[in-house]
Amino acid sequence: MVVAIEKHFLQDRLIDGSEFLFTLKDLSIISKIIMEESGIVLSESKASLVYSRLAKRIRHLGLSSFSEYCSLIQGDFGKDEKQELIAALTTNVTRFFREQHHFEHMQKNILPNLIREAKARRRIRIWSAACSSGPEPYSIALTILQAMPNAGDYDIRILATDIDHNILKIASSGIYDASQLAPISEEMQRRWFRPLNDGPGKMQVKPELRNLITFKQLNLIGTWPMKGKFQAIFCRNVVIYFDSKTQESIWSRFLPLMEDGGALYIGHSERVSGPSEKYFFNDGTTIYRNRMERR
Ligand SMILES: C[S@@+](CC[C@H](N)C(=O)[O-])C[C@H]1O[C@@H](n2cnc3c(N)ncnc32)[C@H](O)[C@@H]1O
Repeated sequence: MVVAIEKHFLQDRLIDGSEFLFTLKDLSIISKIIMEESGIVLSESKASLVYSRLAKRIRHLGLSSFSEYCSLIQGDFGKDEKQELIAALTTNVTRFFREQHHFEHMQKNILPNLIREAKARRRIRIWSAACSSGPEPYSIALTILQAMPNAGDYDIRILATDIDHNILKIASSGIYDASQLAPISEEMQRRWFRPLNDGPGKMQVKPELRNLITFKQLNLIGTWPMKGKFQAIFCRNVVIYFDSKTQESIWSRFLPLMEDGGALYIGHSERVSGPSEKYFFNDGTTIYRNRMERR
């Protein structure tokens, strides 16, 4: 499907031969709502993607056009469908131990102090701020368990949040295809996962691993209820979908939530910028530490 938006008027069909009428006007309504609700910037070049992801919703709801869908989400009963809209338009690609150098950094530079603090009965918190289907927080937990197999006996918790309520259900179930566990050593797999009887090739995290993590829905551009500080924040491959002003505000909002010397891990094509940049120092590729440590 080739989309040449610049040739279209507001009411013209954007995608030739498509099942549902989808116009530039529909695209601009959807882009405005997704920006307001999630911070995600949808440029006109994403028309095909928006079409293919939302056509499923339109079919499911028995509607006949994008304009009907837009009326639904803008109307009094659109609140629940907005959640589905966000779920449909977010990109949830993730994998276990993605950007492995972050976990190596955490193991070498964050865990020794974290383990000391935990043993001194201090509260340890790590935030996976766009956790998707869960491999990120489970990889954090596995890194901790590798260094401290009895981590569950201490006040160590990973808060794993995402805007997408559907993806959080997968994360919380901890069920994955065995092939997704390939980056995890066989020994770790045996120790912290169990085969599921109700699906061939399905594995589920064991309770000792699952119990280290609390999953919650949280919108990064909304209010954050957390009061306590984090020793590490993983906010990876999500701000890339936001504009630079939103990105800068997120970095600034992390600062007061980070322990002195705490680590911020970000995605491979992201960088900390804006007014808060001077309060961070670089501690490796896409790794930042809170400058307080150097005072
Ligand atoms: C590409 S995944 C990244 C997953 C994981 N952090 C990683 O790097 O593998 C991006 C995630 O960001 C979430 N997301 C998008 N906008 C968000 C927002 N405003 N607040 C919280 N999560 C958001 C999406 O639902 C999606 O699960």
